[in-house]
Amino acid sequence: MSKRKKVKFGVLIHGVGGNVTAWRHPEVPVDASVSLPFYKQQALIAEAGKFDLVFIADGLFINEKSIPHFLNRFEPITILSALAAVTTNIGLVGTLSSSYSEPFTVARQFGSIDHISGGRAGWNVVTSPLEGSAKNYNKPEHPSHDERYKIAEEHLDVVRGLWDSWEDDAFIRNKETGVFFDPNKLHRINHKGKYFSVEGPLNIARSKQGQPVVFQAGSSESGRNLAARSADAVFTGHENIEEAKQFYRDVKNRTAALGRSRDDIVILPGISPIIGRTQEEADNKYKELTSLISIELALQYLGRFFDHHDFTQYPLDEPFPELGDIGSNSFRGSTDKIKKTAKEKNLTLRQVALNSAAPRSQFIGTPEHIADLIEQWHAEEAADGFIIHPPLPSALNEFVDLVVPILQERGIYRTEYESDTLRGNLGLPIPANQYTVVKINS
Ligand SMILES: Cc1cc2nc3c(=O)[nH]c(=O)nc-3n(C[C@H](O)[C@H](O)[C@H](O)COP(=O)(O)O)c2cc1C
Repeated sequence: MSKRKKVKFGVLIHGVGGNVTAWRHPEVPVDASVSLPFYKQQALIAEAGKFDLVFIADGLFINEKSIPHFLNRFEPITILSALAAVTTNIGLVGTLSSSYSEPFTVARQFGSIDHISGGRAGWNVVTSPLEGSAKNYNKPEHPSHDERYKIAEEHLDVVRGLWDSWEDDAFIRNKETGVFFDPNKLHRINHKGKYFSVEGPLNIARSKQGQPVVFQAGSSESGRNLAARSADAVFTGHENIEEAKQFYRDVKNRTAALGRSRDDIVILPGISPIIGRTQEEADNKYKELTSLISIELALQYLGRFFDHHDFTQYPLDEPFPELGDIGSNSFRGSTDKIKKTAKEKNLTLRQVALNSAAPRSQFIGTPEHIADLIEQWHAEEAADGFIIHPPLPSALNEFVDLVVPILQERGIYRTEYESDTLRGNLGLPIPANQYTVVKINS
């Protein structure tokens, strides 16, 4: 079996949890979202399980309705930098907004993490869904969904251009002659576009993986197009295999239509496995985890996808309200899906809110059951791998101790890292330096 065919795994390290009430579980350290020992411990467990990467999500606006983890958490670049020093093989992927950052700073920060970690960095480009972000960044208004994606496209092109500022053999560093670098191998991007004006060059060279791996997590039309055009990996979320297959096919087709290889993009749905020795034990764990989620908390959780829309104004047990455009300028991919599912299945607001705050996925059961599903999703091209979102810290140990060996036994998951770079492990090519390519071609 080729390297490319094996399943890939990442872990979302999410402090006190993505579930609204997980922080109250006895095993969750209440300060997990701001605890370096917690992040280090989770990263090392994932590395022992030969995971490809850790993933740090992020956001730029909170209010009293935000879930506990969002209220008090690490900035991704900073925590990844700390994790780089205590890990060896695992990739380090962090979220940074293209709507609220300067390409020069982003290129420099991820370029630095890439060197500090020896070629293990990844950037999750997000467009930032929440309107309130503008107020924290000295901006008169939050750009529209379409415009945010246009900004993202240009931003990413500039970052990629800056990463190529130095050809790989530009630094001569000859102490005898005093020649430190070859100026012919130094390139300025000289970019003047609609949103950014950046001369370059960047003051850090490429790492041994060429450039950090670029992730994309939007799933609207614009998000899919950005992924197909420019991303190396997609983090997505699907409840069932049919939906995941459709998304997988669609993004791979869009990628191929733009002249790229289908293998140049890795698709990783997020899953939150709940593992028990028996199906009953796993079902009980799910019940325990979700038992504290009140309808009030579920409505708040749902509201965030719709830019903190107040759902308490609608009757709970009537069909999901007609919302018009609400949500379209926020998490559009997710809100369109919520609206569509509610209509198709004729769900009430109560049902939609509880499904959103306490989703019951297929990935609940014995280690064999979880391994079977992973194998099926992978074999049927619903996923190249998965981002594991442990519902509790111990769920990561259980996954590594109980599910990983089954997948290794079946030959669909690595027993050793193939490479010491993130690109190498994901089976992604090292991108040629655009200036070197131009020179060869001209
Ligand atoms: C699995 C997944 C993870 C995401 N992680 C983040 C994140 O960490 N920070 C963020 O601002 N947005 C995150 N998003 C939101 C997307 O990046 C995107 O901004 C949002 O979904 C709206 O874009 P869309 O309409 O194209 O889906 C995530 C979305 C998905 C599906």
